[in-house]
Amino acid sequence: MNKLRVGVIGLGSWGMCHLEAFRCLPQVEIVAVCDNRPERRELAEQRFPQAAVYASYEELLSRDDLDLVSVVTYEKEHLAPTLAALASGKHVIVEKPVSTLPEEARRMFDAARIAGRHVLPGHLLRFDPRYAEIKRRITDGGVGKPVSMFFKRSREHSLFETYKRTHTVYELSVHDLDLAIWYAGSRVVSVRAQGCYIEGVEAPEVLWSTLVFENGAIAVLHSNWMTPDAAGIAIVDQVEVIGTEGVAHFETSGSGLQVWNDGGRRTTEFAIHHEFNGKVYGALRDQLGYIADGLLAGGQGLDYLSFDDAIHGSEVAAAIVEACATGREVSVAGTPSDSQYRRE
Ligand SMILES: NC(=O)c1ccc[n+]([C@@H]2O[C@H](COP(=O)([O-])OP(=O)(O)OC[C@H]3O[C@@H](n4cnc5c(N)ncnc54)[C@H](O)[C@@H]3O)[C@@H](O)[C@H]2O)c1
Repeated sequence: MNKLRVGVIGLGSWGMCHLEAFRCLPQVEIVAVCDNRPERRELAEQRFPQAAVYASYEELLSRDDLDLVSVVTYEKEHLAPTLAALASGKHVIVEKPVSTLPEEARRMFDAARIAGRHVLPGHLLRFDPRYAEIKRRITDGGVGKPVSMFFKRSREHSLFETYKRTHTVYELSVHDLDLAIWYAGSRVVSVRAQGCYIEGVEAPEVLWSTLVFENGAIAVLHSNWMTPDAAGIAIVDQVEVIGTEGVAHFETSGSGLQVWNDGGRRTTEFAIHHEFNGKVYGALRDQLGYIADGLLAGGQGLDYLSFDDAIHGSEVAAAIVEACATGREVSVAGTPSDSQYRRE
């Protein structure tokens, strides 16, 4: 079997998930990994002994036997490894947010085109069957054209200690920006946003954003880091899409497995990345498998993930940050309709 040879740059908690998922894909061979922290390299050496381990991404990228590289570094540091990987002839999957600056996202797109390589955004919720089914019912009927959308994303408070390093729009709402843009099939023209800054750092603990689309659809996004850890609910997500033909809705906190014991209650999320019997299942593995299959087929059929949408998502995110800071409605300085960044 012709295998896709992959490398992973950034071996933090999510980079390790990429490796676990790649290991379960028969069409993929993990070749090389990289992190600038020695303790993460040691962990990778123990868990993925087949991979060559590097302290710098330049060294990893100097190999000429890699097809695809995952960039899973800090949110504000995706640009340099992505441009270097594309320039060295690799395809790239960039984790979300592809960038915290729209101009950086456009540079990635341009660099991929010049290099003749693919750059793909890590928007894995398009591979979660619940979100994918809503898109199908928007397209095929049952829900119809969205007129109003609501997305809620709540995470445990202890995670804020790590992820307050980036504005909440880039860490949490970015998922919903991609979904809202995908579902609406339209571009955002203006946003309003408000945040609650309890600790007073760059990232609000609670963020509300309202988006108005060119086609008249409205979306409200609510993200927060306020779930008490003792509640035992890692993920509380909710979606409601009101369309011209029906309503699609789901809420995750009460669904799935709950374990009650003297330690309290703990829910388990199976849809994203779940290990069982030495294998992982979920949207991340499905997304990476889809990308691997597409690249092995010569880059055919990779349109389900859209870097155009990711660029627009970063434009909308920048407008949300501004709206949050100023309290004013902000027009989205998006790319014009006839732009090269648009496919539609
Ligand atoms: N799609 C999802 O659902 C999802 C979930 C979690 C995280 N993420 C994204 O994945 C990315 C990483 O998140 P994380 O939680 O793993 O963060 P993390 O802090 O656990 O890991 C980041 C790692 O990157 C390494 N790193 C940073 N700069 C580097 C460089 N120049 N060269 C080599 N290594 C470098 C750091 O040493 C660290 O080990 C972020 O963009 C985050 O938003 C996505």
